[in-house]
Amino acid sequence: KIKEHIAQVEAFTAATKEEVEDFRIKYLGSKGLLKEFFSEFKNVANDQKKEFGQVVNTLKNAAQEKVDILKDTLENKEESKGVYGDLSRPGASIELGSRHPISIVKNKITEVFSNIGFNVSEGPEIEDDWHNFTALNLPEYHPARDMQDTFFIQTDPDVLLRTHTSSVQVRYMENNQPPIRTISPGRVYRNEAISARAHCFFHQVEGLYVDKGVSFADLKQTLQYFTTEMFGKSKIRLRPSYFPFTEPSAEVDVYWGLETEIDHKITKGTGWLEIMGCGMVDPNVLKNCGIDPEIYSGFAFGMGIDRIAMLLNQIPDIRMMSENDVRFLEQFKSTY
Ligand code: PHE
Repeated sequence: KIKEHIAQVEAFTAATKEEVEDFRIKYLGSKGLLKEFFSEFKNVANDQKKEFGQVVNTLKNAAQEKVDILKDTLENKEESKGVYGDLSRPGASIELGSRHPISIVKNKITEVFSNIGFNVSEGPEIEDDWHNFTALNLPEYHPARDMQDTFFIQTDPDVLLRTHTSSVQVRYMENNQPPIRTISPGRVYRNEAISARAHCFFHQVEGLYVDKGVSFADLKQTLQYFTTEMFGKSKIRLRPSYFPFTEPSAEVDVYWGLETEIDHKITKGTGWLEIMGCGMVDPNVLKNCGIDPEIYSGFAFGMGIDRIAMLLNQIPDIRMMSENDVRFLEQFKSTY
């Protein structure tokens, strides 16, 4: 009778975990068949005890093994169901990153100028005295050097973090003859107290146009074109100013009272706002860079990207733009 059970146990299969559990209770449960067989042991004749014991043990091992194997295979099946089960389920969505507001504004500015033939030039953030100051008509001990609080890495000879990307324009003129139309976007550094309005680094785009017969009228028209493309219908005004590397020099204000559209977002302005410095390149600067000022003239301009990004996006604190808080960054979706 027990041998029959062994055969049954070995042939047993199950489709569900419940069937396996019923099978386990039937054989191995506390009131199961094995319990019963073991309790019969004392009634078995002495000369048959050995064989009886062996057969019951075989049954027990077979039942236990069967339960283990069936449980295992059923569990595996369930797991794979989780992975392959419902093939019509939508896939996990791919998170797309967003561009940084400074990159968005930089890319827009770059596009506006490349549409009128400006190329993009870049240079090192660690500069020497010549490219950041001296070539730009700021000789040693020139008081205007104090306008830009400089981070020095080394003195004598001076190695420093560039305070403006005008240094890139010097490098460009040293290596290229007119006609020159180039803009230089990049990060610049100034030793200023960090606050909501100022940081020890920020970003600029500076532009340079050198050719025969370039006039102040060309500068003004270029700036009018730029502000219209950048901010929508807009008014600008030029205020006389001073930079050592341009003569004459001016500060450019844009009237922010109009509605401004950048990247499908409308921003309502608040009046005249200073957005950049500009002027006619000083003949000394051209000479310093190997361009003959008797033949060529040019204009230059420079603007801060961070300020513009803050205005356009109503960002209240410049520090937010370098804290890498994803909740801040993911708000900027752009095609630029
Ligand atoms: N380099 C100036 C600055 O950083 C900006 C500027 C560029 C002004 C070119 C005039 C001409 O403030």
